[in-house]
Amino acid sequence: MIGVENNIYLERLGVTRNGKVIEGMSGKFRQINRFVETIDGLLDDSGLNSKDELTVYDMGSGKGYLTFAVYDFLAIELKINTDITGIEFRPDLVELCNKISEECKFSGLKFLSGNISATKIEKADIFIALHACDTATDDAIFKGITAGAEVIIVSPCCHKQIRKQLCIENELKEITRHGILEERFAEMVTDTLRALTLEANGYKTHIFEFIADEHTHKNIMITAVKKKKTADPSLYFDKIGSIKKFMGIKKFYLEDLFRHETQS
Ligand SMILES: C[S@@+](CC[C@H](N)C(=O)[O-])C[C@H]1O[C@@H](n2cnc3c(N)ncnc32)[C@H](O)[C@@H]1O
Repeated sequence: MIGVENNIYLERLGVTRNGKVIEGMSGKFRQINRFVETIDGLLDDSGLNSKDELTVYDMGSGKGYLTFAVYDFLAIELKINTDITGIEFRPDLVELCNKISEECKFSGLKFLSGNISATKIEKADIFIALHACDTATDDAIFKGITAGAEVIIVSPCCHKQIRKQLCIENELKEITRHGILEERFAEMVTDTLRALTLEANGYKTHIFEFIADEHTHKNIMITAVKKKKTADPSLYFDKIGSIKKFMGIKKFYLEDLFRHETQS
């Protein structure tokens, strides 16, 4: 559990005041701790717990609640030499987070202003993207896989790309007749395709319910840990192809990212 006493970043981010969790922020505090627990479990699963240096990226880091907590856990509690970079569109949030990081003397934690898709990443051990909008989650998964990350963690946000294309001409057509069901269904289809893409690239995936913050009901988390032995990728690509055909999906953004990479 992340300590609240003398915790500068929780205080500056408005989660605590005078060492106590502020009323109305207990959900966020629970979410932060649940995320740290998730990271802890994934360190064991992946074998990263035996490394003495870790490179982590957090894409769409926002106000940095989770980024700070992960740094605190890895660098301060576990004493792993950790380098974390948060990538965020909004320069005001980047400035705020860098200021707090300096104040905390978190020398391995920095935030850069930029777009996930344009960020060049050579190598990463852990790759995180929580509630990054629509296809920004796919950009993050693509970057994580191509950077060779041992662990990838995403919590998808909206799923517009697939929803716009759903064109079901079979027994399941009824599902898309009601807007809310169509939305949920598009989320399930998109995240299934994402998990299959991760599996095709040699990862073992797990999808479960994470704690949502107060601003969103989005609470699905996909974790992926690189396997030592990989199965034949074509098995997974065949499954992706069948699902797309069944749902009338012409384009799957994440798949296109890999296709463009192969062509360039
Ligand atoms: C809903 S917030 C989540 C923040 C944080 N990850 C969390 O879960 O607490 C999403 C953040 O991602 C940023 N974002 C969305 N798409 C992005 C992109 N393509 N590149 C960089 N940042 C992006 C937004 O500006 C926003 O701050």
